Amino acid sequence: MTKEDKLIRKEFPVFENRNVIYLDNSATTQKPPCVLKAVTDYYEKNNANPLRGLYELSLAATDAYENARAAVAEFIHAPEPADIIFTRNATESLNLIAYSYGMHFLKEGDEIIISVMEHHSNMLPWQQVAKATGATLTYIEPDKDGCLPPERLEEKISEKTKLVSITQVSNVFGRENDIKAMAAIAHKYGAVFSCDGAQSVPHMKVDVQDLDVDFLSFSGHKMYAPMGIGVLYGKKDLLEKMPPFLCGGEMIEYVTLEGATYAELPHKFEAGTVNVGGAVGLEAAIKFVNRFGWDLIESRELDLTRRMMDGMKEIPHVHIIGSDKAEDHHGIVTFKIDGVHPHDVAAIFDSYHVAVRAGHHCAQPLHKFLGVMSTTRASLAFYNTEEDVDAFLKALSMIRSEMGYKD
Ligand code: ALA
Repeated sequence: MTKEDKLIRKEFPVFENRNVIYLDNSATTQKPPCVLKAVTDYYEKNNANPLRGLYELSLAATDAYENARAAVAEFIHAPEPADIIFTRNATESLNLIAYSYGMHFLKEGDEIIISVMEHHSNMLPWQQVAKATGATLTYIEPDKDGCLPPERLEEKISEKTKLVSITQVSNVFGRENDIKAMAAIAHKYGAVFSCDGAQSVPHMKVDVQDLDVDFLSFSGHKMYAPMGIGVLYGKKDLLEKMPPFLCGGEMIEYVTLEGATYAELPHKFEAGTVNVGGAVGLEAAIKFVNRFGWDLIESRELDLTRRMMDGMKEIPHVHIIGSDKAEDHHGIVTFKIDGVHPHDVAAIFDSYHVAVRAGHHCAQPLHKFLGVMSTTRASLAFYNTEEDVDAFLKALSMIRSEMGYKD
């Protein structure tokens, strides 16, 4: 391990406590103590129900929560903290857009465009909207190497298109889509553009104003924060005209037996007692990422991806899904091994203490498009090391022989 590796690994005690080569970072990342301490500190020093109490402790909880919102806004360069809605995760954020925007503003004859490479979280909500409103759901296809040229959107889009929702980084290919170009195309036709940032925000600088997306969804737990906290960014004019998604306490201004007026943004979309601990943890995770910086995070992830892919290309019967260039993968390397089911692949990896994910990765239509039922995925974070990659490659080279193959 290099000096830099040791410095980073010190932040992740899980690797001292467990004998694991953790390569399932696209599913969730490990958590550094600074994040856990921020959550504990909040509960030990400032815990009360925020936003409603008029006593000091509740005001402290409110401050903690709103400071976290401001930190998220700065992190993705949102114009204002009020443009940030806290949710449980990216899935809930995408559902919020679908149920609040889609169900209310789309109608028969309208069109929604998404891509075949979307995670189910950015597909099923739109299928529901299409079913309920009579809008058409149109899919654009990537190339087999994971590239989704913006022209594909330009070919399908029309004045009928009211909403386009595309992932910035595919959770299977790892490839980055040109979101800025696609958002511009959507806007040219008067459509709203939603970006699924679940796999991009943890790995690169995402600037919502530069991309000019109308919505951005992401999860905290994929970027070192606790599970149960997610973010929806939305442009103010859209969020303002959208009706609430969930109704109940704290999202109202005034309630009568007949109805209610709703609270100002962002509280209109945060019904019930909110997850202050999660928000505080996310703020700490943002500070953690900023402490190391994108240059270091991106260059480490790229170097490790390159080492992994170069090694994989040397092993017979292993086929990488998507581009053969490491730069196109953002730490995500999905693959097939001739004659071995991905569940067996993952089980054999586990016997070598290597954690990878096997299955369709919540992207079943993409797997059908690629002509495979399931795949295995190794996904890196910047805390992984060359030793991790080498252990992965060693286990990978053994898989077919463990299954009884002679070559
Ligand atoms: N969406 C996460 C993944 O792709 C869970 O693994």
